[in-house]
Amino acid sequence: MKYIFANWKMYLTHAEAVELAQSIRALTVPDEARMVVFPSLLSIPTIEKLFEDTNFEVGAQNVSWTPKGAYTGAVSAFMCEEAGCTHALVGHSERRVVFHESESDVRKKVEACLEAGLSPVVCIGESKEQKESGERDVQLRKQIATVFHELENAERVILAYEPIWAIGTDDPCDPNEVQRIHEFIKKELEEYTDVEIPVLYGGSVDAKNVLSYISQPFIDGVLIGHASTVTREFIDIIRSVQSYLQK
Ligand code: PGA
Repeated sequence: MKYIFANWKMYLTHAEAVELAQSIRALTVPDEARMVVFPSLLSIPTIEKLFEDTNFEVGAQNVSWTPKGAYTGAVSAFMCEEAGCTHALVGHSERRVVFHESESDVRKKVEACLEAGLSPVVCIGESKEQKESGERDVQLRKQIATVFHELENAERVILAYEPIWAIGTDDPCDPNEVQRIHEFIKKELEEYTDVEIPVLYGGSVDAKNVLSYISQPFIDGVLIGHASTVTREFIDIIRSVQSYLQK
């Protein structure tokens, strides 16, 4: 199984998101692929309807860690599930850096997703400084422990390795290097669970390089940001994944 996840961030208006969803929904999703689009919260109900009778799924870019109550502006994992989401991103570096989300917030959101029946897609990865000072593995080990230490239902978690320096920079991490890092991540995961946790790569993935990632055995898929919001580019990505998987 290969996972093709599209994080539309705050790039598209509702009308643009609907138009993009309409352009892709007729494309065939091969049985060996799982395709999930993460639009803005406001577009989720409409896009979920548009994807009815297709194999495209929708996910939330963020959830609150608490199920309900006096939390102005927050949207819970239960509400996202009710709106038709199957997955939710947790701990994206933009949430960690811009919105100051802590490791403990990440853990609480993972648990909230699992309780609500969503699969959390937890983003982990090192900053440029951590990479340069050789702290990458320590950082990844810490982030993995946050998520998996004594976690029930760990088999529903998906990880996305997203080195922060590669996000939105056109400077993706070399696929062979990602392959090695995923091997390290999967070894770490053996400490916490016997089940195979999918590990995706994210950071400047586009139509030109997508196959160089998904053709690697330890790379279970990709989390694509900007390139998935450009209609032609996203269609090219889906088509090349289709033809690769159907070979
Ligand atoms: P990018 O973003 O593809 O635009 O680099 C990836 C992500 O942030 O998930």
